Amino acid sequence: MAPGRPLALALLLALTTAAATAVTAPGASWSAVPRRTVLYAELRDAAKRFSHGGVSHYLTLMLDEAEGLLYVGAREALFALATGTVELKAVISWEAPVEKKAECVQKGKNNQTDCFNYVRFLQSYNSSHLYACGTYAFQPKCTYIELSGFTLDQVAFEDGKGKCPYDPTKGHTGLIVDGELYSATFNNFLGTEPVILRNLGPHYSMKTEYLTSWLNEPHFVASAFVQESSGSSTGDDDKVYFFFSERAVEYDCYAEQVVARVARVCKGDVGGARTLQKKWTTFLKARLVCSAPEQQLHFNRLQAVFTLPGAEWQETTFFGVFQAHWGDVDVSAICRYHILEVKKAFEGPYKEYREQAQRWGRYSDEVPSPRPGACITDWHRQNGFASSLELPDNTLNFAKKHPLMDEPVPPQRGRPLLLKKDSNFTQLVVDRVAGLDGTIYEVLFIGTGDGWVHKALDLGTSIHLVEELQVFEPAQPVESLVLARRKKLLFAGSRFQVAQLPLADCGRYQSCTDCVLARDPYCAWSRNGSTCVRIDGQNGSHLVQDVLSSDTGACSVPQAAKQGPLTPKNVTVVAGTDLVLTCRLGSNLARAQWTFEGRALPAEQALVLSDARLRALVVPGAGAQHSGTYRCLAEEQGAPLGTQEYQVTVLAGPGAPLEARAPLESLGVVWVLAVCLGALCLVLLLAVLSLWRRLREELGKGTKAIESTLVYPIELPKEPPSPRFVSSAASDSDEKLWDPSSYYYSDGSLKIVPGHATCRNGGPGTAASPPAAIPGQPLHSPTRIHLGPLRGSSSNGYIRLALGAEERPPCADLAEELRRKLQQRQPLPDSNPEESSV
Ligand SMILES: *[C@@H]1O[C@H](CO)[C@@H](O)[C@H](O)[C@H]1NC(C)=O
Ligand SMILES: *[C@@H]1O[C@H](CO)[C@@H](O)[C@H](O)[C@H]1NC(C)=O
Ligand SMILES: *[C@@H]1O[C@H](CO)[C@@H](O)[C@H](O)[C@H]1NC(C)=O
Repeated sequence: MAPGRPLALALLLALTTAAATAVTAPGASWSAVPRRTVLYAELRDAAKRFSHGGVSHYLTLMLDEAEGLLYVGAREALFALATGTVELKAVISWEAPVEKKAECVQKGKNNQTDCFNYVRFLQSYNSSHLYACGTYAFQPKCTYIELSGFTLDQVAFEDGKGKCPYDPTKGHTGLIVDGELYSATFNNFLGTEPVILRNLGPHYSMKTEYLTSWLNEPHFVASAFVQESSGSSTGDDDKVYFFFSERAVEYDCYAEQVVARVARVCKGDVGGARTLQKKWTTFLKARLVCSAPEQQLHFNRLQAVFTLPGAEWQETTFFGVFQAHWGDVDVSAICRYHILEVKKAFEGPYKEYREQAQRWGRYSDEVPSPRPGACITDWHRQNGFASSLELPDNTLNFAKKHPLMDEPVPPQRGRPLLLKKDSNFTQLVVDRVAGLDGTIYEVLFIGTGDGWVHKALDLGTSIHLVEELQVFEPAQPVESLVLARRKKLLFAGSRFQVAQLPLADCGRYQSCTDCVLARDPYCAWSRNGSTCVRIDGQNGSHLVQDVLSSDTGACSVPQAAKQGPLTPKNVTVVAGTDLVLTCRLGSNLARAQWTFEGRALPAEQALVLSDARLRALVVPGAGAQHSGTYRCLAEEQGAPLGTQEYQVTVLAGPGAPLEARAPLESLGVVWVLAVCLGALCLVLLLAVLSLWRRLREELGKGTKAIESTLVYPIELPKEPPSPRFVSSAASDSDEKLWDPSSYYYSDGSLKIVPGHATCRNGGPGTAASPPAAIPGQPLHSPTRIHLGPLRGSSSNGYIRLALGAEERPPCADLAEELRRKLQQRQPLPDSNPEESSV
């Protein structure tokens, strides 16, 4: 078919490239693309979910791997779940009493949100008890939970002041070390008095000095205990680190500036004798820097910190999750800090407020001895300072005035490990896993504000995003993440449920190439079973994995041979329609190579849109010469991933576009077919009318210049419309359009869906003036793309569309994006705007 029309094919619209092969560049790449996208519906089998009638805010997760239990603190309830099945083992109802709630409302708090008992702290206290704290309708309380019966000690309620926030929305962190609770929170009802407190245990309680130079409107996110006494040659003390953002005092020109901080206290600190009585004598803090110099981006809003311990405490690293706005764009970053860099900052110069200059600067005078803020070490003990109580007043006075260090803590490699546009990272956990080559890889699981989890592999010089999983739908922030290393499970808590995911779902990789290119260190291709399997300590020559260079050479069997014969999809369209053939890639980093009748269509032209998993070939105003076999080969790094084939038949149909386009010699056939299809045409026309009316309602008044477009889904009924593109206001009519029977005839060939074809009402200026945008109106299905003024710009040609790969605004309007991109390219080819106004 149409062998004499190679020119038509050659007339591919010269679209500039935005390479779909957007492999993550080293370091601070803007547009790191997860290789694989797994939507909520596709996760169904792998993910297990828990929620309990009416209970919300599953915010606090605590894992007991030895017992195989996950403890969950929620709003007015606590749960014990079996890991693996997330089966409910026991439940405790812990409601704030009615009179407390009434008091809370009386004090002006919201009875729908504030005046409940939100469990914000849940940790192991001793072998038989947990310790739990809740906001208790703005009167925080703590208590013990007896583990064998999972019962709450109703009698021994302790005041939760300073251990737990009053306000459930306020940042808070805490940990229990040797029966003592370290907590960082706000100490009062109004939320004005921040404190880092040590409570419980044998000592009197210890806290921070209430000075803005110590803590200034902090937002606490995390804490960590590091056993620095272990193997110390200087008799050093263990330390507790706190991570938070706060309003900076040291930058006078940016009064509102927020900065990220790390602070620490020594475990042995018992306060001063006269100065700093029952206050920390070892409280020091330093700025955490997370900047991407190339992008001039500075991240200050700290969201979460994960502490990854090493074999020795000197190998401890902290992963910080940051958010920033860059204009209108949300940007997230992950910075990694080495503990020795933190230590260096605390051992460096202090910052000081200079009264005369009224500004902060480096303190360069003599520092008192013993060094203020230092832990008690062997040196102190030898010099008569057995505890902080014996420290001299000048040391303590200096410590009180100089909590801030001059040197900031730089991130490792001097820049973020990962930068991501249009993302709000909220949480992070990191696992270490041995690859087949014996290398230990660090895998990051990053939760986002819209319910996704990204899985990222740190390759030392770059980061590879293995996949992104849509864990919560409808979108809700990932509030907590916990890793079960032994069972290789990830738990995520959100407002409405707890989800359990496997750390790797290797079976999802379909072929050896797919499995190897994924670079998932948990997975390898088994030549024996011809499946992608979890390594799980097994080894052997039958396994194929190449995390470092993703070389698929070891996948010896050619993929094409394994796939078996292709079953082409039959596509029948009316001439004059814009035909869009989609190609499912299986990987967001793959490219699509289209062929028509065995001839390659140039690969370099790609239009990049939002859904990176789809590529599309657009045939604007298809004519008889466009009938034939279309094939799409998905390939990644030169290795084939899969092939799809379409058998396209273009029928002569009614309407002006045909005359404008169809070659003369085919007109006879056109008329015969037109007569044969007379009845069908009538039906179609009616349908056009009714659907056009509906479309117009959907698109609103501003819409102009929407051309007749057909977009053929390839695997239609298997998967519901991608939630990413579904408007929350999706109407009944949308569902009807998704009924497979409205797309397919009984013989399996695709139906013409005239509803996609709409009138044009643009005048001669249509192509030149931008079609009215439909801002914020998401597409109703991933495959119904309403094209803009295509015809004017691309008569008689093809446009290759790569839907995705570069940028990915959440809930992007594909149609709008497509139209915009096509428009940007209009000046390029020999366009004829007049033609579009037929
Ligand atoms: C909470 O507030 C709503 C609206 O202000 C009111 O209708 C409701 O009765 C209140 N409930 C309680 C328990 O006070
Ligand atoms: C754990 O602590 C609780 C509360 O203080 C106490 O009642 C219990 O006896 C302790 N258990 C052990 C094993 O020490
Ligand atoms: C497509 O059409 C061909 C030829 O008419 C037919 O043999 C084939 O079964 C059809 N394919 C499907 C999927 O129905």
